[in-house]
Amino acid sequence: MKKLALAAALRQPVRRKLNLRQSDLVSMWDDFIDWPARRAAEKGFFERAFEKRWITRVFDACCGTGCDSIHLIKQGLQVTSNEVDSVFRKKARENAERNGVRLKLTAHDWRDIKLEDTSFDAVICLGNSLCYLFGHVDRIKALSEFRRLLRTRGILIIDERNFQRIFDNKDTILADPRSYTVTHVYCGKEVIGYPTEIKNDRIVMEYLDLRNGKTAHLVLYPFKQGELRQLLIDAGFRPERISTFSDYEQGVNPNADFYQYVCVKS
Ligand SMILES: C[S@@+](CC[C@H](N)C(=O)[O-])C[C@H]1O[C@@H](n2cnc3c(N)ncnc32)[C@H](O)[C@@H]1O
Repeated sequence: MKKLALAAALRQPVRRKLNLRQSDLVSMWDDFIDWPARRAAEKGFFERAFEKRWITRVFDACCGTGCDSIHLIKQGLQVTSNEVDSVFRKKARENAERNGVRLKLTAHDWRDIKLEDTSFDAVICLGNSLCYLFGHVDRIKALSEFRRLLRTRGILIIDERNFQRIFDNKDTILADPRSYTVTHVYCGKEVIGYPTEIKNDRIVMEYLDLRNGKTAHLVLYPFKQGELRQLLIDAGFRPERISTFSDYEQGVNPNADFYQYVCVKS
């Protein structure tokens, strides 16, 4: 009897226990980003986009540990750094202090941002964040809120991981998850991230600290090719005012790590 039970257990697919503890994830996040490497990979993309459109007031919709907000404040922009999660907010405050800048922190849920219409020149939602939301209506609500905050000709810059590349290489990645690597946005060499579950409606990302073997996980909604762009249109951005970039280069490259969308409010 015992032998049969063991054989049945061995036939089950390997299931990793997910570590969804936010404090573990946040403690690994800065090394997962690698701040200088993120900046270098951007090659001045944000500076160019902002200079071109006279941007001064920026709403960072999910500042996380503060990587982008702190950089933009140092560039002289007026940044409101939103972060709904208190563990991330605490880390962002510590990072700001270490960098000698002061964050203007808010804690709004994207679906209900209690700030005035048209109060910003730019909204940024970076680091593959919108895929935290699993409901279509929630995603539209969030994007509509971002649009509402923008003045006319203000811009939303939002990015997404190239999930299509993950779907296209699903078998290879699941056989060897660490074969999936990127060199943009999340550029860490000591903390790396890769998918360990790939389904149509959910992807589990595992984050591994190579120095000590610690892991943390996130469950994300994976956008299909063209899905986020269509959501942007459904939220009120005109298709001809949405520019797509692949790893900060204009156009759609199927091999990109991440896509960026610059959406001008008309
Ligand atoms: C993947 S992290 C990215 C953080 C940061 N932008 C970066 O690039 O490192 C996603 C962020 O989205 C935030 N977030 C998730 N759902 C949210 C919601 N409904 N409203 C506001 N923020 C949310 C999380 O708290 C988290 O900080």
